[in-house]
Amino acid sequence: MKLKTQPENPLEWVALKLNLAPTPLVDTQIAFNAARAIMAGAELGIYEAIGKNSKTADEIAAECKTNTHATKQLLNCLVGVGYLSWSDDKYSLKTKYHKWLLKESESNLISKLRFQLIEWNWMAMLEDYVRTGTTLQLHNSVNEKEWNLYQEGMRDLSVNAAKELAGKIPISKNATSMLDIGGSHGLYSIELCKKYPGLKSTILELPAAIESASAIAKRYDTTGRVSYKGGNALEDDLGSELYDLVMINNVVHHFTPEQNNALAQKIARALKPGGIFIIGEFIRAEKPGEGGVIASASGLYFSVISASGNWSADEIESWQKNAGLKPEKPVTTMTIPGWKMIIARK
Ligand SMILES: C[S@@+](CC[C@H](N)C(=O)[O-])C[C@H]1O[C@@H](n2cnc3c(N)ncnc32)[C@H](O)[C@@H]1O
Repeated sequence: MKLKTQPENPLEWVALKLNLAPTPLVDTQIAFNAARAIMAGAELGIYEAIGKNSKTADEIAAECKTNTHATKQLLNCLVGVGYLSWSDDKYSLKTKYHKWLLKESESNLISKLRFQLIEWNWMAMLEDYVRTGTTLQLHNSVNEKEWNLYQEGMRDLSVNAAKELAGKIPISKNATSMLDIGGSHGLYSIELCKKYPGLKSTILELPAAIESASAIAKRYDTTGRVSYKGGNALEDDLGSELYDLVMINNVVHHFTPEQNNALAQKIARALKPGGIFIIGEFIRAEKPGEGGVIASASGLYFSVISASGNWSADEIESWQKNAGLKPEKPVTTMTIPGWKMIIARK
């Protein structure tokens, strides 16, 4: 996917065509002000206050307990960004954003947008990271409140993908046990357990994550077959021939190549013969620029906040092969662009 500056009138079209419009300013100051306004709308409860109605700035500010004049500035920006519309002095949320920004919708991204206020501060370390190579170890630097927003934000990212992927993962109909490493909210496990009535999942999570992660799972798990185990995948023994599936989604970008190779060996041992090992990740393209802005920007972000950054499909497959597993066709998803499940079988 690409982000692109679009002209809004013929003059702008010509200015862009002739390279007269200062696009680096649009790509930066305008983009970051607009991004921050969208996130502020989530943090301050603006979308929820408007709901599916049309409201004046006074009404919205009263509901959000914010300053009326400043709220109007934010609302006007959100109209310009294209999220709100304005008529007769009233603001409404455009229908296509009801799905993403109203809490009544399961697909809402409100917690993820609020968590991005924290991610925003992490990205402010970018220049230091590039100068020194020193990264932030995200899991050592979040406080209790941030853990909750982090896990809720991961829910937001996964709620649609988990449903889509449950039907695409090539596990046996008779599968009985899976291990979901860093499974957080549990949605990937929950959707698989709903589909396979004989399946039970253990979510191995860092102890600091378990309280907020399991509270989310409780809201979704109708099977009673998903349970949590506190631990550390890099340190714990994972056992031998216990699982039909070991899944690790959005975790290996936090680990070094040595850690990922060692983990793959433990996972291969923990799989039953015929069992599968799935690694779900935003995939680093083989050549810079391939995969567009999502692959490159997510790769940079993960490099700043964790041990490594995005991995290529070949790199991921190499850990699986080194552990004696046979690669199978990767699974892609429409609901998380740029993301894939790399699969190997014992
Ligand atoms: C980015 S989240 C991914 C959550 C979920 N798998 C998903 O895809 O939505 C990474 C999760 O891995 C957990 N985690 C990180 N390091 C871990 C480790 N060494 N052992 C177990 N879990 C870990 C974190 O607590 C966090 O919940």
